[in-house]
Amino acid sequence: MKQDMIVILDLGSTENTRIARAIRDLGVYSEIYPHDITKKELLELPNVKGIIVSGGPNNVIDGQKIDVLEEVYSAGFPLLAAQHPVAAADSVLNQWPTEDNDLKKELSNFIFDVCGAQPNWNMKNFIADQIELVRQQVGKKKVLLALSGGVDSSVVAALLHKAIGDQLYCVHVNHGLLRKGEAEQVVEVFQNQMKANLVYVDASERFLSKLENVADPEDKRKIIGAEFIRVFEEEARKLEGIDFLAQGTIYPDIVESGTKTAKMVKSHHNVGGLPEDLQFELVEPLRQLFKDEVRACGVELGLPEGMVYRQPFPGPGLGVRCLGAITKDRLEAVRESDAILREEFEIAELAGKVWQYFTIVPDFKSVGVRDNARTYEYPVIIRAVNTIDAMTASIECVPWTVLMKITDRILKEVPGVNRVCYDMSPKPSATIEWE
Ligand code: XMP
Repeated sequence: MKQDMIVILDLGSTENTRIARAIRDLGVYSEIYPHDITKKELLELPNVKGIIVSGGPNNVIDGQKIDVLEEVYSAGFPLLAAQHPVAAADSVLNQWPTEDNDLKKELSNFIFDVCGAQPNWNMKNFIADQIELVRQQVGKKKVLLALSGGVDSSVVAALLHKAIGDQLYCVHVNHGLLRKGEAEQVVEVFQNQMKANLVYVDASERFLSKLENVADPEDKRKIIGAEFIRVFEEEARKLEGIDFLAQGTIYPDIVESGTKTAKMVKSHHNVGGLPEDLQFELVEPLRQLFKDEVRACGVELGLPEGMVYRQPFPGPGLGVRCLGAITKDRLEAVRESDAILREEFEIAELAGKVWQYFTIVPDFKSVGVRDNARTYEYPVIIRAVNTIDAMTASIECVPWTVLMKITDRILKEVPGVNRVCYDMSPKPSATIEWE
């Protein structure tokens, strides 16, 4: 293994993630582990140079105050204890500094001067280490990956292809709710350029017929999720002798799904609900990475920037932006207006700056006029928001000139649309998506 590591033991501090990030920013790899890790498990981790125990307000589970196992304290690793009294600590902090620079100063004293760690955490080394780990885990066996074309699954695909080549089987299910050009890009990059094993399934018609006349947002989401698993499962059964399932799980997914001390925010759904008889062992090479690190990893692996720096896109895709019961004409209007919005945001240099931007087409019409004749057509709603964690969001103040150009193009180029609106609502009270 190429990189030194500082282990943070999770005693419920809400600061763990910030500390891990700060250590990685200092060039040293850092991972967070549950408080009850054993000495044996710790000794099996590669290149551990020191341990940080960080207490906090959540260090109680079921009414019991939790602590790290005594044997870990005496395992011989340099120890920094913060907000948690430990007699054996080499360094003690009563409070984590709130200023990032002060935090880094404290941490660099510990990780470099006390632990003697080397600042050798970078993407090249991370990739080299993961390739070695994946090869060890997988051996000569086959790995299946649901490749959505999103950042995380694309980076996993590129990494695994580099590690195990033809032992990787990617399945790309096009549910007909993807953005314009997305399925084509997946085929181009992974099949044509990378020469990876890619099974491309165009299931558009199948999804649309399942969704016919279904207007309730939650029903739509459930149908799309369940059908996705069904299609994926059918393809998985056709590919015989698969032992592993790769997932683009990243670190925030693990935190959001609840650690031992962090409360669950939302259940995460990658390819979760596969049937019991399809028993796979998981391969999750990105599970310790933060989002920006995943992107850096993708760039290092040679993926196109447009794929690596793409905005978040919900699993149910354009299905939650074509409001109510999905119809082909309105779905096309969402797809085309979204493509125009994305093009114009690129031109206006907003694409890299705004967190998420898309269009919505509701299921009602309004009266308009075109060529001196009355029209009765759909509106397109533009939404552009900024957020840190998607829990709250504020709207982007898009310049009028840009909005007017987008409006002009949508009204000219998208059939069946006679009106364009801008969504002014922050989250809360609105959510980012409309359904
Ligand atoms: P909301 O609408 O809840 O969205 O404010 C917050 C963020 O999550 C994205 N989103 C999803 N992402 N699967 C996903 O992977 C989903 O089912 C899903 N629903 C919403 C949304 O686009 C926004 O970035």
